[in-house]
Amino acid sequence: MTPMTLAVHAFERDGLWATAFAAALDAPLAIIEHGRFPDGESRIRATLAADTTLVVCPLDHPDEKLMPLALALGAVRTLGAQRVVLVAPYLCYLRQDAAFRPGEPVSATIVGGMLAPLIDDLVTLEPHLHRLESLDAAYPAVRAHAVSSAPLLANVLTGDAALADALLAGPDEESERWTAALAVEADRDFIVMRKTRSGDRSVSLDLDASTDVDGRTVVIVDDILSTGGTVAAAARLLKARGAGRVEALVAHAFAGSDDLAALARAGVARIRSVDAVRHETNAVPSAAYLAGAVRSCLGP
Ligand code: R5P
Repeated sequence: MTPMTLAVHAFERDGLWATAFAAALDAPLAIIEHGRFPDGESRIRATLAADTTLVVCPLDHPDEKLMPLALALGAVRTLGAQRVVLVAPYLCYLRQDAAFRPGEPVSATIVGGMLAPLIDDLVTLEPHLHRLESLDAAYPAVRAHAVSSAPLLANVLTGDAALADALLAGPDEESERWTAALAVEADRDFIVMRKTRSGDRSVSLDLDASTDVDGRTVVIVDDILSTGGTVAAAARLLKARGAGRVEALVAHAFAGSDDLAALARAGVARIRSVDAVRHETNAVPSAAYLAGAVRSCLGP
């Protein structure tokens, strides 16, 4: 019997991460050709045929990426791929997982419904699952694999002697899921704050009066650093309650330079993020880890 072939496809901008990912899988990497038709539409071409085709695409800045990605997923199918696996180290539009005000869409299920017919499997790192229990609700009929960031982030904690006694802090109820997983993985204590959001850049946090952080080194843990407002508010509260050094460890970082400056002013001494989304705080390589996760998803 001829063995099944495996190939990785990626857009040029993701070439560095995809090269490490493909090397860890011992699979060839092809860069997806992406040009433009004169009217502005994307002109896509895939060039490497394989039975199982992994298409790598971290979906930060998704509005500019989704259409070329959809076309690329269709393109690898035309080359004969029997199994198309979307490897989206960051999966977009999951925070709008409910219509919060009348007239708003449930973006998570709309975007999932657009991509689902084009793929057989989805592999992603630390998706923002809050009101959705699992990715299945947004990606019907897809084998969806949500890979935990806890083992990756735990390496940072266990590899840094200065954080040996660090207390982990989740800034809101949503973060309890990943903070607790990391606490178990790294054998650390954790606390969870309460957050009230009144706008995109406006949050207020609260921490039980009985929680003692005086003099402690605290690592704020979150899945996403977007405007940085959540982590900044958490740092201010921890500092006001007597915490010593405050750092942040996040799976996906997007914050711009003004936001990073505001985080420094709030007392965050260092921010480290996973390199699944390219960002100046990247300090946690993830390609080999996700390749291992993909191997176990694909099976023998
Ligand atoms: C909340 O839903 C998320 O887990 C993050 O806390 C949130 O997305 C962070 O956003 P920002 O950095 O803008 O406060």
